[in-house]
Amino acid sequence: MKLLHLDSSALGTQSITRELTAAVVARWQDAHGDLTVEYRDLDAEPLPHLTGRSLAKADAAQAEADEATLQQFLSADVVVIGAPFYNFSIPSTLKAWIDRVAIAGRTFRYTEAGPEGLAGGKQVIIVSGRGGQYGDASPADFQEAYLRQVFGFIGITDLEIVRAEGVAYSPQHRADALAAAHASIRSPLAKAA
Ligand SMILES: Cc1cc2nc3c(=O)[nH]c(=O)nc-3n(C[C@H](O)[C@H](O)[C@H](O)COP(=O)(O)O)c2cc1C
Repeated sequence: MKLLHLDSSALGTQSITRELTAAVVARWQDAHGDLTVEYRDLDAEPLPHLTGRSLAKADAAQAEADEATLQQFLSADVVVIGAPFYNFSIPSTLKAWIDRVAIAGRTFRYTEAGPEGLAGGKQVIIVSGRGGQYGDASPADFQEAYLRQVFGFIGITDLEIVRAEGVAYSPQHRADALAAAHASIRSPLAKAA
């Protein structure tokens, strides 16, 4: 079994999502002795923006790296993604990664009946960190709502969100939100049981 662990927070050791993705991955490691974990720090090693040149595969080395990023996603059974709420959306470093895995003909396609996701069969766990409080359905949420849309579009039906929000309100809010988020992490074995 293969797990892909992605972090994208720019806040280093102060990051809420980095702490929580590590906790989620540790739960999976405890539950599955055969688990292989691949890690990408999209902040420390950002992918370049998607451009006309990258779409045209003008740079062979970049095209090879993009294909490796896609294959790494496709081959994962579980993907754990640290997704901070930055400027009402996600960090551009995470968007650059999504631009490498949401690929027509590879992870989705259009048919006469409409779009069809091709990347199903894997589980995606989003760890969401938010300074403010937005709940489940705020019109200002272009973070979780966007991630649900894009992963649903490419065929992911098994998507879970671990959320810590209101962390900027006060140190107590931050501590309470983190504790609640840790407590909400589901056992990887719960579904199998
Ligand atoms: C560049 C930046 C932009 C942010 N924009 C927002 C925002 O629009 N709304 C909000 O509620 N919090 C915002 N925040 C607060 C973060 O959501 C909060 O710090 C959260 O913990 C981010 O996750 P992280 O700690 O893993 O980076 C922003 C933080 C940063 C650093």
